[in-house]
Amino acid sequence: MEFAYRQGVLCAEQVPLDEIARRVGTPCYVYSRAAIERAYGEFARALSGRRALIAYSVKANSNLAVIALLARLGAGFDIVSGGELARVRAAGGDPRRTLFSGVGKTEGEIRQALEAGVLCLNLESEAELARVVAVAAHLGVRAPVAFRVNPDVDAKTHPYISTGMRQNKFGVAYAEAERLYALAARQPQVQVVGIGCHIGSLMLGAGPFVDAAARILALTQRLEREGIRLAHIDLGGGFGIRYRDEAPAPIAEFVDGALGVLAGRNETLILDPGRAVVGNAGALLTRVEYLKPGESKNFLVVDAAMNDLIRPALYDAWHEVRPVREPQAGVRAPVFDIVGPVCESADFLARERAVAAAPGDLLAVMTAGAYGMVMSSNYNTRPRAAEVMVDGSRMHVVRQRERLADLYTGESIPSW
Ligand code: LLP
Repeated sequence: MEFAYRQGVLCAEQVPLDEIARRVGTPCYVYSRAAIERAYGEFARALSGRRALIAYSVKANSNLAVIALLARLGAGFDIVSGGELARVRAAGGDPRRTLFSGVGKTEGEIRQALEAGVLCLNLESEAELARVVAVAAHLGVRAPVAFRVNPDVDAKTHPYISTGMRQNKFGVAYAEAERLYALAARQPQVQVVGIGCHIGSLMLGAGPFVDAAARILALTQRLEREGIRLAHIDLGGGFGIRYRDEAPAPIAEFVDGALGVLAGRNETLILDPGRAVVGNAGALLTRVEYLKPGESKNFLVVDAAMNDLIRPALYDAWHEVRPVREPQAGVRAPVFDIVGPVCESADFLARERAVAAAPGDLLAVMTAGAYGMVMSSNYNTRPRAAEVMVDGSRMHVVRQRERLADLYTGESIPSW
């Protein structure tokens, strides 16, 4: 919606993408402020009137400008590392509205989180509880904790991003949860404040999400009978968006389903969406370097690669590719694989697409706002892309393109 052709040029809000390429170069991530606000607003509206916290999942896009924008809208944050906590704080986010998830929190990260005063540590194992007890004792504080419980519900999504089933590494087993809560409740160094789950990413229908909510509520009620009262129920993220022709249920359907299950309950409802907030708000802008006709396939070699956007290589994910100059009706568009310069056969951004493009033309890889820049790497000693946030007719460079020298700072040659 915020990315549309105006006078024949693809724009982010009011700013033509060719103007961004001219000023910042390519490859470059472009985000729309209005699109982020609109997506966040859908959650806020669906939850209005209910004690709730939208804890944006920072891993989806952790640029400081994105975090700062969401903090201003009233978001809390879901983080998975000390690094993400540092970003939330640097961007002016509130640690007291921040939940720390993840299976492998180090002692240092737990200390950092407790010192910052996070809302809650989402524990994923008994061993982690013991570690948190020890760190809290050492600091002389009481650690607010929840368990991430694995509800064993199939989110019906890609196996790599499905997380709520028995065979996944995430969460504590549903059958174990009561014992662990009882154990935690006996530790003076922790305060049990909530319960969490997250069944997977890219859910299209609300069914599995609502099933998970019901299982988590049943557990919450059993805990209550044992005298363990919780302040919040965190149902995770994973709300799907459209990449190609999927038709994800509207956010309100997921939220209404959960609100129905939790009717009459006083716990704060927490959701931690990532992709649904930023996914459609971003595009990766790239320039065509070469046309390379092959024996069985034609290749369009562009200046962005799998190190910039790894989702196609990693999940065979489909991203729409749009030419920045609006294609003329009736022009014959040959079929290409759109590939980058990285030395891997998996280095493709899109396969078998009809695009009318010539060297020098700009293309936009759409729906790249989530799990794009954050998953980028320096493979092949490629500097990571710049990031731009568009706001109406203005553009802000919110991350400079990395310089080559940045890439080997910190390396040294021994004096053999
Ligand atoms: N909460 C928890 C506990 C999570 O593990 C995740 C994502 C989220 C929330 C946010 O999920 P979202 O609303 O963004 O779907 N790299 C993959 C996605 C990995 C998701 C990992 N966990 C991709 O590019 O599709």
